[in-house]
Amino acid sequence: MTAGPAWWQRGAIYQIYPRSFADSDGDGVGDLPGITGRLDHIEALGAEAIWLSPFYRSPMADFGYDVADYRDVDPVFGTLADFDALLGAAHARGIRVVVDWVPNHSSDQHEWFRESRSSRDSPRRDWYVWHDGDGAGGPPNDWMSEFPAVGRAWSLDEATGQWYLHSFMAEQPDLNWDNPEVEAAMHDTLRFWLDRGVDGFRVDALQRLAHDPLLRSNAGAARRRDQDWETMHDRLRGIRRVTDEYEDRMLVGEVAIDDLHRVVTFLNDGDQLHLAHNFVFADLPWSAEAFALSIADFEALASGVAWPAWFLGNHDMPRVATRFDGGTGLGPARARAALLLLYTLRGTPFVFQGEELGLPDAEIPADRVVDVDGRDPERAPVPWRPPSAAGPGAGFTTGEPWLPIVGAAEALNAETQAADPASTLSLTRRLAALRRATPALQLGAQRALRLAEDVLAWERSADGDRLVAAVNFAAAPVALAAVDGLPGRAALVVSTDPARAGGDVALADLALGPAEGVLLRL
Ligand code: NOJ
Repeated sequence: MTAGPAWWQRGAIYQIYPRSFADSDGDGVGDLPGITGRLDHIEALGAEAIWLSPFYRSPMADFGYDVADYRDVDPVFGTLADFDALLGAAHARGIRVVVDWVPNHSSDQHEWFRESRSSRDSPRRDWYVWHDGDGAGGPPNDWMSEFPAVGRAWSLDEATGQWYLHSFMAEQPDLNWDNPEVEAAMHDTLRFWLDRGVDGFRVDALQRLAHDPLLRSNAGAARRRDQDWETMHDRLRGIRRVTDEYEDRMLVGEVAIDDLHRVVTFLNDGDQLHLAHNFVFADLPWSAEAFALSIADFEALASGVAWPAWFLGNHDMPRVATRFDGGTGLGPARARAALLLLYTLRGTPFVFQGEELGLPDAEIPADRVVDVDGRDPERAPVPWRPPSAAGPGAGFTTGEPWLPIVGAAEALNAETQAADPASTLSLTRRLAALRRATPALQLGAQRALRLAEDVLAWERSADGDRLVAAVNFAAAPVALAAVDGLPGRAALVVSTDPARAGGDVALADLALGPAEGVLLRL
């Protein structure tokens, strides 16, 4: 007998960016009670789990990814009691809760860093990465911040005359994971949330947890020395051991490495991550060939225990509907095709809030820009109701939203789409329900098919149930050629084009519209 899927394999994991999801108290910033109040939406989406971006105490230099207390909720998001209420309410509906864990850096306002920077003799000095400069007034080496606007990854602390490492903003000093005390303290922060009942963690900036202990420059090195050092794997095994002290928990890593050979090293032995966000895939251009190659690459490199995780959007990258438009006007249709792809590929889909609505990026006027790295457009609040009925806050807030509401809110809000069977929201619900009801779409085998130029196609099968998915990447219609041993006729189960009729079709007669995706049952 084969075992059924783990919960984190079965269906989609829905990413919530709490600041922008739902505001319960009118301060213009989303909060935890706001999420609890919108669990109907998540349940109707058939999400297996939610992943919450950080809601911990934070001065918000990086909107929560600068944590000042790993064990408390920031007042703007609510209280620990609000968190427990959300967790209980989600669990009561069978929705798992994954929280973001930011182990590479804390806020510069964290008491650990305040102590660390207070003097060279501080018992916590070695909790962060301090070093003398290069002797010529410059930093210890050539490492750069992930954010181009920040520049170098070092800042000088005038008072103690040494530099500290920050892979992101200066307000986000890197913790020193070479120090076992730091490792133990961070493990305890995991236990804090595991004891409260969370189902897993999304590990932020994972590849940054290990760098060259000699702090040598990157220049001239065959491989970068500021991240993904070999010590990474033992470090990760330690984290996995902590989560394995509890039953049925999951670790997904933000593995922002553009080399799949490296990415699979975190998955292939089954003792590190359960899932790794595949940034090679997320960064692909809209090309059937590129997608096909990337999927095949992962399959070729992955071991039997490695399970794929697919995503095309998050709070750090332009939204799918905008990114894949490329001036064709097909962005919205491609966003629908992308959803079909995510829900029907073999692997766990990660869906970022608003993707189920086909939201494009919002336009952010210069005087409303708040993020250091240009990520405001994809972080615009979720429009829940038409502004004409709910006011300018579109049901997200009764106050002034912290970022502008997307211009298309009147048509693309959740309430309007829920009432329209042709909407992207209705399509997403159908795809999720199909996946839930179809073992072949969960653990089923996958075989790549070549049905036509510019068409990405694959078969999923289990226990005699065979489904074929096909997505037309071209901006023009493409006729399918029935090849690869497929039967002549199939049942069209779902199309991303609401005008397409379902039912029995002859494969040889099937032409996919521009950006159309279909799912067929053989
Ligand atoms: C990745 C997060 O997704 C991003 O939003 C954040 O700025 C960096 N890590 C730093 O924590």
